[in-house]
Amino acid sequence: MKYYEKIKTTPIKKDAIILGIETSCDETAVAIVRAGREILADEIISSATEHAKYGGVVPEIASRSHTEAILTATENALKNSGLNKDDIDAIAVTEGAGLLGALLVGVSFAKSLAFAWNKPLVPVSHIRGHISASYLADKDLKPPFITILCSGGHTAICEVKDYYTLKVLGSTIDDAVGEAFDKVARVLSLPYPGGPNIERLAEKGQNNIKFPKMLANNYEGSEFDFSYSGLKTAVINYVHRAEQLGQQIVKEDVACSFQHSAIDVIVDKAEKALKLTGYKTLAVSGGVGANGYLRKALKDRFSGKIKLVIPEKRYCTDNGAMIASEGYLQYLNGNFADLTLNAKAVVPIK
Ligand SMILES: Nc1ncnc2c1ncn2[C@@H]1O[C@H](COP(=O)(O)OP(=O)(O)OP(=O)(O)O)[C@@H](O)[C@H]1O
Ligand SMILES: [Mg+2]
Repeated sequence: MKYYEKIKTTPIKKDAIILGIETSCDETAVAIVRAGREILADEIISSATEHAKYGGVVPEIASRSHTEAILTATENALKNSGLNKDDIDAIAVTEGAGLLGALLVGVSFAKSLAFAWNKPLVPVSHIRGHISASYLADKDLKPPFITILCSGGHTAICEVKDYYTLKVLGSTIDDAVGEAFDKVARVLSLPYPGGPNIERLAEKGQNNIKFPKMLANNYEGSEFDFSYSGLKTAVINYVHRAEQLGQQIVKEDVACSFQHSAIDVIVDKAEKALKLTGYKTLAVSGGVGANGYLRKALKDRFSGKIKLVIPEKRYCTDNGAMIASEGYLQYLNGNFADLTLNAKAVVPIK
């Protein structure tokens, strides 16, 4: 019988152990998760230091690094979990969105593994993976809840109506918030990755420069939409203008003021989304969720009022456990791919 014909009839196990593979950007990440909630192993091999020389992720370097690291990451995950291949019930892999060459390494590897081990292959959306990181953070978390998705490529407020149904209340109409952090970091001559370096600098600064809070009010689209390109341009103009006039800028203050403008709108819109839906749970997903100012602002605004789920920083940025967790949900639905699975540079949030 052909691989897929046989796999389609795989009996579904409630306590399934899923091996998740993530290679959409510069992290080669492999994790093993039981029943979508319990992390048994979690390996991340990052090529960030190689990209730092160039000020941003170089797709070709990312792809080559994944090729070099993926076998080691998988072997380490198995070894550290104390399991062997027979204990694994399915292989989940990020099929998109991300860098195509980087994704292809993970997808090709996952297909080979699924075929060789005779396991179901489960395609996973990277964005859904970020959202599912919250199920790892709070073992009792159940939909419905609001999630604020704030990553390098996406910014949105979504209703998670049930495990499979997302409703996007609003999203960015231009840049993502993480992208804005990275671009502002560049103009301040901070090394890659920009987000954590802006945060570090901002801690020593004052919020004393008036940058715009884009789409905070008076916008004709969804009140939950975001825009970051105007804020980014305002910061770039501020820095360039000072340079042209030969004036010194206080980088710490620029970082701090930018961070306030970028983050405060997210917290405000999250509050409006909770009010609109009447939901009593708010979760954070995506790399900017690792930002200390955002984490504190959320706690200050919502602690004691609603249930707040903020994953550990490691599970906000890209990781394999979130892919295994979302993979588990897809596995329960029998959403298996055959060996023609391909990588996708873009996938809609749904
Ligand atoms: N402490 C931090 N403060 C602010 N931003 C941060 C922090 N840590 C990480 N980031 C930002 O998070 C982004 C990386 O997050 P993530 O890994 O989720 O994005 P991505 O995978 O590149 O994009 P996407 O998930 O949208 O496809 C980068 O833009 C990075 O600057
Ligand atoms: Mg990501």
